[in-house]
Amino acid sequence: MLFKLSDGREIPLECYKARMVQKISITPARQRLKAIEEAGYNTFQLKTKDIFLDMLTDSGVNAMSDNQFAAFIKTDDAYAGSMTFYEFAEAVKDVLGYNYVMNVHQGRAAEHLLSKVFSKPNGVVITNYHFTTTKAHIEVTGLSECLELYLDEALNTKSTFPFKGNMDIEKLKNAIKKYGRDRIGYVRMEATTNLLGGQPFSMENFREVRKICNENGLLLVLDGSLISENAYLIQKREKGYENKTVAEIVKEMCEIPDIFYLSGRKNTSVRGGFIATNNKALFEQIEPWLPVYEGFFTYGGMSMREVGAMAVGLREMVDPSVAGSAVEQIKYFVEKLDAMGIPVVTPPGGLACHIDARKFLPHVPKEEYIAGALTAALYLASGVRSMERGTISMDRDKNGKEVYADLELTRIALPRRVYSISHIEYCIDRIKWLAEHRDLIKGLKFVSEPPVLRFFLGKLEALDNWGANLVNAFEKEFGTEW
Ligand code: F0G
Repeated sequence: MLFKLSDGREIPLECYKARMVQKISITPARQRLKAIEEAGYNTFQLKTKDIFLDMLTDSGVNAMSDNQFAAFIKTDDAYAGSMTFYEFAEAVKDVLGYNYVMNVHQGRAAEHLLSKVFSKPNGVVITNYHFTTTKAHIEVTGLSECLELYLDEALNTKSTFPFKGNMDIEKLKNAIKKYGRDRIGYVRMEATTNLLGGQPFSMENFREVRKICNENGLLLVLDGSLISENAYLIQKREKGYENKTVAEIVKEMCEIPDIFYLSGRKNTSVRGGFIATNNKALFEQIEPWLPVYEGFFTYGGMSMREVGAMAVGLREMVDPSVAGSAVEQIKYFVEKLDAMGIPVVTPPGGLACHIDARKFLPHVPKEEYIAGALTAALYLASGVRSMERGTISMDRDKNGKEVYADLELTRIALPRRVYSISHIEYCIDRIKWLAEHRDLIKGLKFVSEPPVLRFFLGKLEALDNWGANLVNAFEKEFGTEW
């Protein structure tokens, strides 16, 4: 939460205390070079023993509360009919307002089921912006393509527009004219838009999308993987919402779509996911596939202890000190870098601090994976593991041609309630150092490239061995210990 200091400054103060900790230590730069070379310059391939601050993602690594751990123990283990599931369903009803819910093993499992049931032949799924797994599941059906109808402003990384996650309403109307309702599987809004830099959409925009879906008989799906962050940002930025609680805003958001799903790994707990709705007929269309792919109805591929922790996490996520914990740290991080002239995505959103790698490394051509290079360079200079969210995260098209990403971002994620301001200060310092030595950073080339979601397992190498040059410069300044 933001606290006001006596000198007028506002700083994010952690509203929790550490009662169990994990030791981390820094691997010196020379060793980091060896580690990233072995990892094929792909931070997904690093081992955590070589990582100082793991800011790859918030997925599965948010801190859990004491009450969530208590729920782990107080679990009703049963293959069928577990009371823990019914307690979870009650939390879904209380917090989100849905009567029907099914667990799935993680967010992409929900995407799998929705794509399977609702895709239309020769069709499209319309979204404010794709997420990697969403797009993969839409395309893997062989039926549909993923059509992104984001605002032009969404690609402006230096912006003050508060809701860059909005769907462009004119583009939506035109797409409906072009494809016709029979070819549109569903319309999907993602809260917050991960690959645009964690940018939220406004309630007004969401209502507008709903209206158009109603007029055209289209199904509206909400990916609420970061719904509490989106709600927190609506409270901070949208007129008329300043006096509503995060809990009220979350509830209001949930009244709008036909179907809701989320990745529980990001929002409510550290595992799992679920699909929820108030529409019985839609629920019954999905339900038969649940035991085929996930498991019986009352566990859906999750362990009961995870379902129990999720029930507690759902109730906790609407507490502003939880919903705002990463958002306020990100704001601090982004504003400091921005003030130093480092190209970061603004305004700050949820999930992470994102560096605009195209602007950071203007000399690296798009064919050489700009964000991939910056992500590896940040690791070399700091031991901080971030994630490439650029062209490597796109797969080639059907003809094997490279699909260049709209944005080349290095995503430095802030898992909830894990890191402190001094960790962020350290990141800022090393990013500043990198900016001063950016000329040493060059591009990457693939040495082994999987056909789907290549960013997970792909291996690359540094052109002209630039990693070694960067480490030499680093050691000259900091010595061999860091
Ligand atoms: N939707 C969104 C918006 C996501 O950010 C994610 C995952 C998923 C769906 C898929 O959920 O991982 O539980 O299967 N995002 C993670 C990330 C992986 O690092 O941003 P999952």
